[in-house]
Amino acid sequence: MIREAGQYLSKSHSPVFFTGAGMSQESGVPTFRDAMEGLWKRFKPEELATQEAFKKDRQRVRDFYEHRRDIVRKCRPNAGHTAIAGLESTVSNVVVITQNVDGLHQSAGSTSVIPLHGNIMEDRCNHGCPERHPVGKHPATCPQCGRNSMRPDVVWFGEPIDEEMMIRSAAAILTSDVFYIIGTSGCVYPAANLAGLALQMGGPVIEINPERSPFSDEVTVFLPLRAGKALPKICRSLFDLA
Ligand code: OAD
Repeated sequence: MIREAGQYLSKSHSPVFFTGAGMSQESGVPTFRDAMEGLWKRFKPEELATQEAFKKDRQRVRDFYEHRRDIVRKCRPNAGHTAIAGLESTVSNVVVITQNVDGLHQSAGSTSVIPLHGNIMEDRCNHGCPERHPVGKHPATCPQCGRNSMRPDVVWFGEPIDEEMMIRSAAAILTSDVFYIIGTSGCVYPAANLAGLALQMGGPVIEINPERSPFSDEVTVFLPLRAGKALPKICRSLFDLA
């Protein structure tokens, strides 16, 4: 199965990798709920990651994200992230569409990453000023409009995904020749619709996940493995096939 997954890649000129929280599991990045530990245990997710929460208590929301950033700062890309990034030296037009906000694909060296749910290591203005700022530079005040409106550049519960990201993702999928679904439960919409789009196109779809997902019955190859184990093997098999 690894060989078959590698064969599609060896013929590919435009692979797309669609990743979820399972991709970062071996890097030790906790899920949103797992990060609600210690003093954060007493809150509900909607008290920490919604517009209402931010309006009610900005400092609490900012402190929670600072706690999550402290965790992410200690995490490093795993062998799976590195394998995908390394592909760029042999395969053209590698695109990563990720639901993860940890920036680990970018840290690993992937150059074409669409972060559907944003990037936790950047801040933006809650009133829509366009610029993104690395965290720590402008803790509270927006340097463009001067309001106390800086917030993490992530999609909160109840917020839409940036339309441009969805359009760029759909365009990448429509021009792709193989699609990899890695470490996602497929339960979070509209992101999951992107995997649905790839399946509808009828091209090869490879899924890597130790557990089955709603996509598993429909994919061309299902690899019941961890991403950090399967991806380096698939990428190595590329060189064996060459
Ligand atoms: P989930 O936590 O719903 O699902 C993670 C998936 O990864 C499961 O199917 C696991 O079986 C699989 N998995 C676990 N370890 C793995 C490994 N080592 N290798 C491969 N797969 C593994 O995560 P998502 O589908 O990403 O949004 O959905 C969560 C999204 O909603 C996140 O993007 C987050 C959350 O709210 C935001 O942060 C905005």
